[in-house]
Amino acid sequence: MSWFSREVKLPAGMIDIHNHVLPGIDDGAGDWAESLEMMRSFVAAGYSTVSVSSHLHHPLFTESSAPVIRALVQAAQEQADAHSLPLRILPGCEIYYQDGLMEWIDTGAYVPVGGEGAYLLIEFSIRDTLRVMKELAFQLQMKGIKPILAHPERYEALQARPEMAREWIRAGWWMQLDLPSIVGETGVYVQRLAVQMLKEGWFHIAATDLHKAPEHKDYLHKMLIKLVKLVGEQEAERLLLTNPRRLLAGKSLEEADWLED
Ligand SMILES: [Fe+2]
Repeated sequence: MSWFSREVKLPAGMIDIHNHVLPGIDDGAGDWAESLEMMRSFVAAGYSTVSVSSHLHHPLFTESSAPVIRALVQAAQEQADAHSLPLRILPGCEIYYQDGLMEWIDTGAYVPVGGEGAYLLIEFSIRDTLRVMKELAFQLQMKGIKPILAHPERYEALQARPEMAREWIRAGWWMQLDLPSIVGETGVYVQRLAVQMLKEGWFHIAATDLHKAPEHKDYLHKMLIKLVKLVGEQEAERLLLTNPRRLLAGKSLEEADWLED
């Protein structure tokens, strides 16, 4: 079943793999009230599932750990159920690249996207180098991890050399667009690269990276509509539903149609 809005069709039952809906452990939801507001926003926008991505192994946020995340996810699901919100909440984390990352990975202290499987969501400082990012993909894959690169459009090195995105994909990165980037929320350079990468078919997944309860009730809806207008309904479905679903099932992600030829 699909639903229509302003003549643009969004896929029903979308899955978000990047958000900070858990309260009190990073720069996301401040408390349960805000967390619930965010969950309501997801349901209102047409989402069926959110895999949380609380910051982990991050220099600024130390409250979090895999057991804390898993316990909070369970509590969040209970909150959603108690408020009759039809939303499935799954564990996950967003890992910040810094020295010692591979040693930390070896301890198994992370939470894969969806709570199980081989996909891990990784972010870098916006000033990290292309070489560091490319090498990390190889190191992670040597350990059987399938790395997802959070918001590549934000990285300055890629803004200077967008064509390098192809090399990252070849190196093994799965590319995740932050939807706020396409409406200019993180600046014009980020927006420009995000749109270019969308047109080239260089993203595998689009996610909200929602940190706060939206001030306007159509906040998520607007960026979803913008995505459909930029790439069309079929491609939007690949980014918002098909690939997130494949990811949670442990399958490889589909490329854009026009890259398969
Ligand atoms: Fe994030």
